[in-house]
Amino acid sequence: MDSRQKLVISGGRRIEGELAVQGAKNSVLVLLSAAVLAHGESILHNCPQLTDVDAACRILSCLGCRCVRSGGTICVDASTAAGFEIPESLMREMRSSIMFLGSVLGRTGRCRLSFPGGCELGARPIDLHLAALRQMGAEITEQHGYIECTAASGLHGARITLSFPSVGATENILLAAVTADGTTEIHNAAREPEICDLAAFLVKCGARISGAGGSVITIEGVERLYPAEHSVMPDRIVAGTYLCCAAATGGELILSRCKSEDMTAFLAVLESMGCRAYSYGDGKLYFDAQRRLTAPPTIRTMPYPGFPTDIQAPIMAVTTLARGTSVFVETIFDNRYRHVPELVRLGASIKAEGRVAVVEGVRSLSGAKVHAAELRGGAALVTAALAAEGTSEISGVCYIDRGYDSIENVLRSVGADIKRVTEK
Ligand code: UD1
Repeated sequence: MDSRQKLVISGGRRIEGELAVQGAKNSVLVLLSAAVLAHGESILHNCPQLTDVDAACRILSCLGCRCVRSGGTICVDASTAAGFEIPESLMREMRSSIMFLGSVLGRTGRCRLSFPGGCELGARPIDLHLAALRQMGAEITEQHGYIECTAASGLHGARITLSFPSVGATENILLAAVTADGTTEIHNAAREPEICDLAAFLVKCGARISGAGGSVITIEGVERLYPAEHSVMPDRIVAGTYLCCAAATGGELILSRCKSEDMTAFLAVLESMGCRAYSYGDGKLYFDAQRRLTAPPTIRTMPYPGFPTDIQAPIMAVTTLARGTSVFVETIFDNRYRHVPELVRLGASIKAEGRVAVVEGVRSLSGAKVHAAELRGGAALVTAALAAEGTSEISGVCYIDRGYDSIENVLRSVGADIKRVTEK
């Protein structure tokens, strides 16, 4: 990661044109983890070029897998995956490395990793992951910042009820359950589309899973998994971010490789603000926005199919210019308004306290030097800077690179004046 890089944006240009949506970060990371379970070489297509994906490939190498990337395709040969330890440096690099817990435990009967701890979004506990794995027969000790899991005689199926539909916990349970002895039921499971993508890949590998996408998932453990070929689903958050860029600039976009049915709650908000969106053909979405939008009804982030927390920051950037007052209630993460003071530097009028933020729409934003403190907050700053008058400089680009594949090239292709510069 190069912390000296900046994005320099001259705002005020309409975003218009056509672009293809990249593969989903939150899907590819867990699919790479799932590949550990398959005895042989799995092939994943449509993998985005992201620093988090590079980190996941390094973890795979540490675990004894051979991982080769060629363009958007990553081949993972897990024939010799005998490693069970993820070094602390890699755990620090990417919090989602906790996603390797279920698959490594399932494959080797053991897993040792350092506690992921907090991240840019505040405390991110993993108590639900650990409690579920314990129910499945894992012995877990937490000492000196390390988690040591063992299932010497293998994992067994269990009936697990999550107190909250955690995405990561649901994924870890799925990964651990596919080769466990007997049947596992996950109640109050997360319903995010990425869970369906993971289940689809695991089923191709020979797993027996039903109910993914619903609140109850049933997994019948099988002896072993075999490698498979799979194409990573489109990234609904990235698609949503580029629509926000178009919305903030009164633009017009056609997205291809887009699954608009995964974006219903988000598209409903944009439509309520005065945008038009319709899907057609094979994975295409047409979108246009009026010059001045109106504030939407209260936006409350919720587990899927509710409004996604990951798109809260980019849509807030759009509401800064909308006519009227917009209200946000963030119910998923504690510390997800770090973009607010930076949007204010760009001329927005926002008050945030606790879980609520209130935005009074202004007529214009003006360019400023701002800092991205995390991934989606960074995307919100890009969105606002595209709509602002004058030039903005956004630092903290390394966070944006965790989730957006060449953001500056994509946006330049649809009319933005944006470049990446490295400070001497
Ligand atoms: C995933 C996504 C992230 C998204 C989030 C919510 C990946 C790699 N990341 O994160 O982009 O913002 O879903 O849609 O897929 N919690 C607990 N205990 C646990 C687990 C979670 O209290 O054991 C809490 C978290 O602190 C948080 C909430 O549950 O407040 C949601 O977390 P979760 O759904 O687990 O999100 P992640 O899987 O971490």
